[in-house]
Amino acid sequence: MKLIKNAEAIQEYVEGMTTPETDILYNLKRETYLKVLSPQMISGHYQGRLLTMITQMIRPKRVLEVGTFTGYTAICFGMGLPEDGQVHTIEINEERENIIRKHLEKAELEEKVILYIGDAKEIIPTIDEMFDLVFIDASKMEYDTYFDLIFEKVRQGGFILTDNVLWYGKVLEEKKDKKTAAIHAFNSRIQEDERVENILLPMMDGIMIARKI
Ligand SMILES: C[S@@+](CC[C@H](N)C(=O)[O-])C[C@H]1O[C@@H](n2cnc3c(N)ncnc32)[C@H](O)[C@@H]1O
Repeated sequence: MKLIKNAEAIQEYVEGMTTPETDILYNLKRETYLKVLSPQMISGHYQGRLLTMITQMIRPKRVLEVGTFTGYTAICFGMGLPEDGQVHTIEINEERENIIRKHLEKAELEEKVILYIGDAKEIIPTIDEMFDLVFIDASKMEYDTYFDLIFEKVRQGGFILTDNVLWYGKVLEEKKDKKTAAIHAFNSRIQEDERVENILLPMMDGIMIARKI
């Protein structure tokens, strides 16, 4: 209980005890806040560092990201990749293409990160790859659909990470709005899915980690 009371101070402390953000990521975040609508959608330093670290642990050859936004997490995955690794990342909003490509180049990741502009629901079926790691971070109402579309493209033992599954704590509310209900249904479905083992990390806005058995 005390820990929850001090949540902000704890977050400040843990960020202070985490490898600092690179200049490239800092500048991307800054430009996102200055120029892009809904900048709070960006993952940010702490979660980004976790994703880089997970990538370094798994050493995936192929990563799929659903929901690029301005490219922050695509770069975080790219930073953790092994030499022959690639990230495939999908963003529906074509207005974001310039900022994404600009910062991928700055990070020297333009060859390792393959950007698709379009609807993930149409693009996923066209990607002929098997993935070791997937990050779902696009429309909350469509989490189920993305999961179904990617599942056969994840190798046995591969990981599917899904962001914002606590939805600011609203999943606990009795009367759930549409988005919250969709996220809660997604979490329950993962919990019951015998094809995966899973853990819900309560950090940031909640990350569901599912491992394909
Ligand atoms: C929360 S943001 C992604 C944040 C990014 N992963 C990061 O941490 O920096 C969600 C993004 O998903 C995109 N999106 C929403 N629906 C989509 C779809 N059906 N296909 C592809 N992208 C979609 C939105 O345009 C938005 O840029």
